Amino acid sequence: MNTYLESLFSLDGRTAVVTGGSSGIGRGIAVALAHAGASVVIVARGEERVAQTVAELTDAGCRAAGVIGDLSTRAGIHAVADAAVEPFGEPDILVNSAGINIRPPFPEITEDDWEATMTVNALAPFLLGQRFGVGMAQRGFGRLIHISSQQAHRAFVGSGVYGVSKGAVESLMRSEAEAWGGTGVTSNTLVPGFVLTPLNARLQEDPTQIAALAARTMIGRNGLPEDFAAAAVFLAGAGSSYITGHSLFVDGGLSVH
Ligand SMILES: NC(=O)c1ccc[n+]([C@@H]2O[C@H](COP(=O)([O-])OP(=O)(O)OC[C@H]3O[C@@H](n4cnc5c(N)ncnc54)[C@H](OP(=O)(O)O)[C@@H]3O)[C@@H](O)[C@H]2O)c1
Repeated sequence: MNTYLESLFSLDGRTAVVTGGSSGIGRGIAVALAHAGASVVIVARGEERVAQTVAELTDAGCRAAGVIGDLSTRAGIHAVADAAVEPFGEPDILVNSAGINIRPPFPEITEDDWEATMTVNALAPFLLGQRFGVGMAQRGFGRLIHISSQQAHRAFVGSGVYGVSKGAVESLMRSEAEAWGGTGVTSNTLVPGFVLTPLNARLQEDPTQIAALAARTMIGRNGLPEDFAAAAVFLAGAGSSYITGHSLFVDGGLSVH
């Protein structure tokens, strides 16, 4: 890379923590940040997918490590925060991609469903960002990157408590942008459309529905994890220092309708 591009986009010397970095969008982002030079810590529950992702990255000459943790409880979130700094030190970049969408019909949503969804999707981003943001601000550089959803902006296909949690994520981003303003720490959100990942594997069994979703985009296809690579590198790097509190739609134009 030439030095001009490096000054804008290189993540050499940076450390990133990517929750949900073992699958789907998070995996696409973890791979991108690692290839852009960051040392990447991948957090998820399933050991096998974490190990596979770390092996793929280290085989490619990148620096990566895994942390097995569960973000569905408060104790689990705090344990992840402690463990995530072990491999490479305090992170400069936090990507909150771990998320769940359990989709019960609205009248059947239980308080446990609410608790589970809000804990993984909203409380974990809050607690991890608060914990790592302090050090980022002291060091004068930090990047908090969230993944929300179309359902933070509009209700469709049974948004339920998932839509609530994603609305919270975008408000959290604005609160973080305010809280860390002037410190060198920014907070931004990537807003996917419909992305082909294990999260919606059941939906993908219906080719008609998949084709209908693709037809709703301007680009004419559904999203792939690698579609998030360049946007994530941009938001993680020095070149985006004047962008904070922004929701960037990476959705093939789905939201333009
Ligand atoms: N796919 C889409 O169309 C779409 C659209 C809008 C927004 N999103 C958002 O994008 C993000 C990534 O989704 P995706 O489609 O890439 O999903 P995915 O392929 O299912 O990946 C989810 C990741 O989160 C991890 N995870 C889930 N629960 C966890 C927990 N309790 N503790 C720690 N890690 C946990 C999973 O690993 P383990 O299961 O091994 O823990 C996995 O690495 C989510 O926030 C989702 O809401 C996705």
